[in-house]
Amino acid sequence: MATRPDPLAYLDEALADLRAKSLYRPLRILDGRQTPHAVMDGRPVISLSSNNYLGLATHPHLVEAALAAVRDLGVGSGAVRTIAGTMELHEELERRLAAFKHTEAVLTFQSGFTANSGVIPTITGERDLIVSDELNHASIIDGVRLAKAARAVFPHKDVDGLEGVLRDARAKGGPGGAYEHILVITDGVFSMDGDIAPLPGICDVCERYDAAVMIDDAHASGVLGRNGRGTVDHFGLHGRVDIQVGTLSKAVGVLGGYVAGTQALRDYLIQRSRPILFSTSHPPAVVAACLAAIDVLEGEPERIDRLWENTRFFKAGLTGLGFDTGISETPITPVIVGDSERAGRLSARLLELGVFAQAVVYPTVAIDRARIRTIVSSEHTRDDLQACLDAFATAGRELRLIGG
Ligand SMILES: Cc1ncc(COP(=O)(O)O)c(C=O)c1O
Repeated sequence: MATRPDPLAYLDEALADLRAKSLYRPLRILDGRQTPHAVMDGRPVISLSSNNYLGLATHPHLVEAALAAVRDLGVGSGAVRTIAGTMELHEELERRLAAFKHTEAVLTFQSGFTANSGVIPTITGERDLIVSDELNHASIIDGVRLAKAARAVFPHKDVDGLEGVLRDARAKGGPGGAYEHILVITDGVFSMDGDIAPLPGICDVCERYDAAVMIDDAHASGVLGRNGRGTVDHFGLHGRVDIQVGTLSKAVGVLGGYVAGTQALRDYLIQRSRPILFSTSHPPAVVAACLAAIDVLEGEPERIDRLWENTRFFKAGLTGLGFDTGISETPITPVIVGDSERAGRLSARLLELGVFAQAVVYPTVAIDRARIRTIVSSEHTRDDLQACLDAFATAGRELRLIGG
């Protein structure tokens, strides 16, 4: 075969550039199960980097449900939802989730990412405005990019700033005249800082300016609210948030996303949302495991209690050592280092000490806000967490991130 110049050779340069800037992320290989004690890149570690908050990824009830679904129904759904890929199991999961969330209806998506990117452009049009918190998740940003609506960003968690944007929007409108609809979007729990959206204030302001509210509860699902019902339940705001996106991939332990809201919202998304129309639905094992996860959230609330006890213990330990843990209020606790290269060195040293805690660098966080992002789970023991704190103390002192 004749050789030809590689038309993608520029990617080699791009990769070299990432390496030079300490922004290259090697994939770490998990050998075995996603549990607090794991084997990562061949090394036994205590893991602080999974989103498996409640240990459901390996819970026997979910595993058995998935196995039974495979035996009964096979491994694939065989079609997109709107052609032949809606099984009774999909509908059952949506009914269960709607009852759990106290909403009229739920529609599941293949992931939290596709839920966000599938809902935002579908329900907004050219004469509308989308207003987004500046630190919202990438899947919201991509959903906004796909939309034809005008966009505005408000400063992180700044309800007065949001009010300013809405006041201007209602007073002046856009280039095409007054906006028809306004959609305000916020993460419930911000995934890199672990802080919680000021949802009561956002709801008040949105009601004053006739704007719809959408919340992305990826990191609140299974974590905040009664039995992990999310941020709306945490603040007692049922009926005041129009669209709740949740994920089934993190505390729920499986895979998927969902949109909870009115029946009309569900019906319209089925007609028009592109991931529903153009991408195959979940296989039965995934759906059955998600159904089993709701049983566990309802039947074993002590897991969530343990998660929060561990969170308090670990956070207090890190701040006691003198680390900058930012403004976290949830099990996501960042250890903010600033420089990407130092964050990478801290993560590498922790790995040598038997703790797996990944560095998070640009573009996931701002270029000067590189960090180690930790998430404890209900399944870590006190001894596990103390061992992690000891490793942080050693590595932090060696790298002069903390005194002592
Ligand atoms: C805030 C937020 N929204 C959405 C997602 C996407 O969820 P999923 O992993 O289910 O696609 C994530 C996961 O990284 C997230 O942190």
